[in-house]
Amino acid sequence: MIFEFLSAVTVGVSATTLLMATLTLVTLVSLALGRYRQRQGSCLALDNVMNAAKKTVAAQGPVVVISSSSSSSSSSSSSSSAKRSSGDVDDVSKGAPPGPWAWPVIGSLHLLARYEVPFEAFSSLSKLYGDLFSITLGSTPCVVVNSLPLIKEVLIAKGPHFGGRPNFIRYDILFGGDRDNSLALCDWSDLQKARRSLARQYCHPRMSSLQFETLSSVLTSESGHMVDELQRAASTSGSRLGVDLKPILLSMCANVFTHYMCSSRFAYSDAGFQKTVRLFDQIFWDINQGYAVDFLPWLLPVYRRHMQQLISWGTDIRSFILTHIIEQHRHTLDRNNPRDFTDALLSHVDASAPDADRSATRHELDWNHVLYELEDFLGGHSAIGNLLMRAVGELCTNQNVMRNIQEEILRVTGGHRPVVLEDRPHMPYTEAAILETLRLSSSPIVPHVAMQDTSVAGYDIKEGTMVFLNNYELNISPDYWERPLSFDPSRFIRNGKIVKPEYFIPFSTGKRACMGYRLVQHVSFVALATLLQNFDVTSLNADAIFLPKACVAVPPDAFPVVLTPRSSSH
Ligand code: HEM
Repeated sequence: MIFEFLSAVTVGVSATTLLMATLTLVTLVSLALGRYRQRQGSCLALDNVMNAAKKTVAAQGPVVVISSSSSSSSSSSSSSSAKRSSGDVDDVSKGAPPGPWAWPVIGSLHLLARYEVPFEAFSSLSKLYGDLFSITLGSTPCVVVNSLPLIKEVLIAKGPHFGGRPNFIRYDILFGGDRDNSLALCDWSDLQKARRSLARQYCHPRMSSLQFETLSSVLTSESGHMVDELQRAASTSGSRLGVDLKPILLSMCANVFTHYMCSSRFAYSDAGFQKTVRLFDQIFWDINQGYAVDFLPWLLPVYRRHMQQLISWGTDIRSFILTHIIEQHRHTLDRNNPRDFTDALLSHVDASAPDADRSATRHELDWNHVLYELEDFLGGHSAIGNLLMRAVGELCTNQNVMRNIQEEILRVTGGHRPVVLEDRPHMPYTEAAILETLRLSSSPIVPHVAMQDTSVAGYDIKEGTMVFLNNYELNISPDYWERPLSFDPSRFIRNGKIVKPEYFIPFSTGKRACMGYRLVQHVSFVALATLLQNFDVTSLNADAIFLPKACVAVPPDAFPVVLTPRSSSH
């Protein structure tokens, strides 16, 4: 994404105006060329223009900061007075939150240019404008919320006001032309409430419930299959070239999900399954990117091919799920005895209604809802597979952490048996390594949107305003963590127990919080522990390990890993 501190405009300075015009042109060209999330160093030309502009502006003395969403203005020297760290809910309106000036057409998108990721930019801008500031991206009014108290005000105290999601064209395209088909990307509604409550018992299996027992036995069986596959891969070219680990981890997670939610599993050699796993991963990577077209929809023609590709990926995935899972379940469905999540979903389809009849007014599901909900949940496996890849990437460069996990595994299993889900409460260090991976990956909270006129910290927020919750700041700032960039699981352990600080919210909070967090904890624990019980993981080339900032996804074609079988693994 694009960002910089060109948040100010000096009035009547022609050199600056000219520079800004050049900058706008360069920005537009750059945006039109495609994605604006880029690897470091890939937008150097734009950066140089930005730096030149910044120096010129700085040389011209005090600057005037004009709020993008109100006519009020204030000097940057006084902008720190707007910085608030409390979550006080004031009754007296303070007007719109302060923020940088917005250009016609692009708004303040150009300010994102110097940074690798937008959240880094948001953190920098918050030093200037405070914990709540407004920014216009394209023509979309947005606010950025940077402190825990204000994040809680948005997500908890005023959760119902902020239950919407952005109206990006990409989101509609990914979900059959209507983002309301998606659990994560729809606006809050009664239908969404119904979908969430239906999924709850399968997503949050309680200890010693039937679901927990099922998940545990599925994990044991699927981690056995994964080890077989890893041994095969390691024995062929593993030590010389490294193993392409990502497809194997993704396939393991996908099989856990289909096995647990649909009572179906697929051979690793099944081409249709492998293709579907890969498509899910490509979509997961894509959805984690920011694109100029999200905020500049008139750029759509430039993205036509990309959008066509998204449509075809989604269609192929749905066709696989329909043919290999839903059709079989439909024919053998016993509404009174659901076998799994798929049956539970199908049982809620209004039995008397024809397929095409949408029954949303009674908050019942139609066949389409079932298909999309299942797709959404099955797609959750990609998030876990990517998280595991990130954990492996961290371990390749932090071998002491890998050894500590292996010692913990040996202590708990006695070297006599595989790790099982029930070991999790006794293996805090392994769990902490996963938490540390989550912290450093800092997966962004999906933006929320105000569904009515409201306020935060006494500032007015208009209906339709997009809200970025900056959990990157909470995860990476030295204000919250010692040596924040080190991979150190022990920061989550006190007296042998896991301790999570209140400001650590990788799965967000409030009514739209992540539904899959328990599955993430359970599946990633067993998968990572099984991998390390059986293999040492190392890298042939640490420079090839690319773990993007503020993003749980790693590219679909990730880095190779050397797997060395451990002689006394159990
Ligand atoms: C590394 C793994 C994951 C991370 C870090 C993660 C994080 C998040 C976050 C931050 C949100 C947004 C919450 C908000 O807007 O306030 C979210 C939403 C959601 N997540 Fe996850 N998630 C992960 C995996 C999963 C999995 C495996 C599933 C499903 C099995 C899942 C299902 C969902 C759903 C359905 C929502 C949307 C909830 C709603 O909008 O009502 N997630 N997740």
